[in-house]
Amino acid sequence: SSFKAHVAERFCTYEADRKATSKECVYTTSNGVPVPHPYEAQRLGNGPLLLQDFHLVDLLSHFDRERIPERVVHAKGSGAHGEFVVTDPCPDLCLADLFQEKGNKCSITVRFSTVGGESGSHDLARDPRGFSVKFRTNEGNWDMVANNTPVFFLRDPAKFPFFIHTQKRDPATHLTHADDSTHFWEYFSQNPESIHQVMVLFGDRGIPKGYRFMNGYSGHTMKLVNKDGDWVYCQFHMKSMQGIQFFTQEESANYSPDYSQKDLYEAIQKGDYPKWTLEVQTMTPKQAEELWETQKINVFDLTHIWPQGQFPRRKIGEFTLNENAINYFAEVEQAAFNPAHMVPGIEPSADPVLQSRLFSYPDTHRHRIGVNYQQLPVNAPRTAYMHANFQRDGSMAFFNQGARPNYLSSIDPVLFEPRAVDLDKTHGHFTGEAVTFLSQIRPEDFNAPRALWQKVFDEPARERFINNVSGKMASCPDKEILKRQIAIFREVDDDIAKRLEKATGIQGYDGIKNMQFNGTHNGMATDDKVKHAN
Ligand code: HEM
Repeated sequence: SSFKAHVAERFCTYEADRKATSKECVYTTSNGVPVPHPYEAQRLGNGPLLLQDFHLVDLLSHFDRERIPERVVHAKGSGAHGEFVVTDPCPDLCLADLFQEKGNKCSITVRFSTVGGESGSHDLARDPRGFSVKFRTNEGNWDMVANNTPVFFLRDPAKFPFFIHTQKRDPATHLTHADDSTHFWEYFSQNPESIHQVMVLFGDRGIPKGYRFMNGYSGHTMKLVNKDGDWVYCQFHMKSMQGIQFFTQEESANYSPDYSQKDLYEAIQKGDYPKWTLEVQTMTPKQAEELWETQKINVFDLTHIWPQGQFPRRKIGEFTLNENAINYFAEVEQAAFNPAHMVPGIEPSADPVLQSRLFSYPDTHRHRIGVNYQQLPVNAPRTAYMHANFQRDGSMAFFNQGARPNYLSSIDPVLFEPRAVDLDKTHGHFTGEAVTFLSQIRPEDFNAPRALWQKVFDEPARERFINNVSGKMASCPDKEILKRQIAIFREVDDDIAKRLEKATGIQGYDGIKNMQFNGTHNGMATDDKVKHAN
């Protein structure tokens, strides 16, 4: 009968509530009072409704508030739960508790997504795919918020909102780039550093055959720190153990908008659990400097990849998705993945896009879900210790940390874990000028896309690529934009430009040397010294 007893009984029943069948449940108002039937609106004879009818008011007003904002990007997605297991511990690289011993496990939640479309959009859009994993480690949650492509469209975070606007609906016509690709191509033709990702997008990997048959890549350079404080740069790879499969543009038109959702859900439902390996490429700070000196690849530039021959992958573990969400909204839509969620031993690099993302995700979560989103079951950490801090109150504070002090108290202090490695040791390496800009285009920006065209794509893949690009160009009426874009493709390989010219009937510019791009940091920088020139 006491409040204590009530809380003990009611609030330890999340799992019971999640799993309860309808047969065990009585229909009630939100305050728990049984109602004989939902279709009993109280009405005065043949007259108006009564405000006293709490059941109807409760029903309608909750319904009115059912929608939360969809994710501003990656709104269409699918998720599932599973388990990560360490197969090859790496204490020499990383002090994270999870990676210390073979067989260490943790519960995970994964969310896959497309990027540009709204939450009801087509799963088989030609678009990168998001691949997020929440690892619930003993030391708190570690989120990998990755894509299925190892590179990205930009290296200057200020471009991200503008870039995304060009991939979303037009403010005037309200059309997407499926009907009018003018803004889509204008962005790329003004920002040539996007070319590598554009090549991947229009290649075969641009439409994965559902989510089970694709890899995930951190894309960003991160850092791994071991218990001695030694650190290396790293890139994470999640490799599909199902292999890579894709749909051609033509094939993709034959499937329902929820193809990937259905494919993932049904595979898990019938016990055909998809699996990925977690692997890592590493690089010492000295090697990073050499990579810049010799190949002009900046490890903080996610439009570039690390050459796999020079930096082989090393396996750490495997994960399996073996449990569908019982309730999509609670377990997938409300999931909040954040690249700033890192555990000791895993650190951000100075990559400016990564640094910006560290701010942007929790910022959007407070808006999209609410200030206490970390308390929701799918987001809550599951640590080896009771965790505490001085965050209190706010909307829907469910776990409000009891009677413990809400300030740094010396009378009743919480426990503090010392930092395993001094921050000076892992972050004492920032060098360079006070302000630098990221928009210069360099010849090296075209090396990897060229290798993709010349060495990775075979002839049928090249033909599909030309079809995909020229097909997309057909919905851009602005010829000037397409001339620019063809010039950018010419920097990759004249063969691509020539084939596109033939397919579109548009003669592109000779190359980008004399072209001006949006913004003040223009031209093709051929010399390291002009790296920071305006
Ligand atoms: C989702 C911002 C670049 C991968 C999001 C969301 C925002 C955002 C605001 C919505 C999050 C939510 O509502 O929960 C940005 C910004 C970027 C950037 C500002 C650059 C400056 C990237 C890059 C990657 C990436 C480079 C991959 C390497 C993802 C993924 C999701 C996402 C996978 C979906 C997460 C989920 O499943 O809930 N991004 N993003 N983003 N982003 Fe980014």
